[in-house]
Amino acid sequence: MENTIRSLQQEIIDFEIHSPADLETFRLRYTVRKGLIAALFGQLKTVDPAEKPRIGQLLNQLKQTADSKLAEAEAALSSTKPQESKGIDLTLPGRRYFTGSEHPVQKVLGEMKQIFSDMGFGIATGPELELDRYNFDLLNFPPDHPARDMQDTFFINKGAAAEDVLLRTHTSPVQIRVMLDQKPPIRVICPGKVYRNEAISSRSYCVFHQLEGLYIDKKVSFADLKATIYSFAKQMFGTDVKLRFRPSFFPFTEPSAEVDVTCYLCGGKGCRVCKKSGWLEIMGCGMVHPNVLRNCGIDPEEWSGYAFGMGVDRTVLLRYKIDDIRLLFENDLRMLKQFTA
Ligand code: DAH
Repeated sequence: MENTIRSLQQEIIDFEIHSPADLETFRLRYTVRKGLIAALFGQLKTVDPAEKPRIGQLLNQLKQTADSKLAEAEAALSSTKPQESKGIDLTLPGRRYFTGSEHPVQKVLGEMKQIFSDMGFGIATGPELELDRYNFDLLNFPPDHPARDMQDTFFINKGAAAEDVLLRTHTSPVQIRVMLDQKPPIRVICPGKVYRNEAISSRSYCVFHQLEGLYIDKKVSFADLKATIYSFAKQMFGTDVKLRFRPSFFPFTEPSAEVDVTCYLCGGKGCRVCKKSGWLEIMGCGMVHPNVLRNCGIDPEEWSGYAFGMGVDRTVLLRYKIDDIRLLFENDLRMLKQFTA
């Protein structure tokens, strides 16, 4: 009898209760009126009277062990059960999460940034609300030069404030900020939004995106510029693209050029997008004008550099076959949801 009690005691201690089903098995085996412990109590009358008090005590201990284990397990299991609280129905299925997606402009900008950062360019940003001085004057636009008229924008406090402020018309003022702020060598790209007072149509909008590049070091040449742009264009538009540099004019570069790539839609044969020319213009570029370097406290006798500025939105439109630039700015979910990864 004593051995049976002791082995049952050990069995009860070792019994693992992890679920309501375990709990029920335990209860039925040991603690109910027809369970093993009750049966042993029934056998107590057959025990030698001299041994009865000791065996009775052992049996009581056994019962206590089982009862307290049952109570503890019950408490533990009920605390892990979800609580029903007022006003919340925990049996309802959860709300669905809607995953957002990167805007197509950001996708293309991301690719461009990656290509340049692989080439060792850092990233600089500047404010969209910019000083007239940085947007034009320090970039060597003479006060009444017609080049200003080509970039009409939204002027804030014109004439009244201490300094004229405007919505920047290009990312080039970030060049100025970087050069005023850092000593050469400088190698940065400046992506961002720019603004112009344009007639709005499917092809042009009052907001768009540019990516500017600036490299200032000793003995930088036009050959460095060409090689960098070539490497970029091949990675961005495909290894087969050809480039064409056309002489152009920008007040802040001399010499200046516009860069075309062979139309990557028709492979240069001529199509509707490239207007049968076989070429697509992708950027303006040139060697940074000595006046611009001087305006920023950099000695043009010691340092030279190149700069470039490209539009981002047209590449987005062509890449994703979007036929209206306004769709990029309207935040219409019917359009944006098509870009979920
Ligand atoms: N800022 C010019 C524009 O918006 C583009 C440009 C041309 C940027 C030549 C440059 C550059 O940095 O060197 O039309």
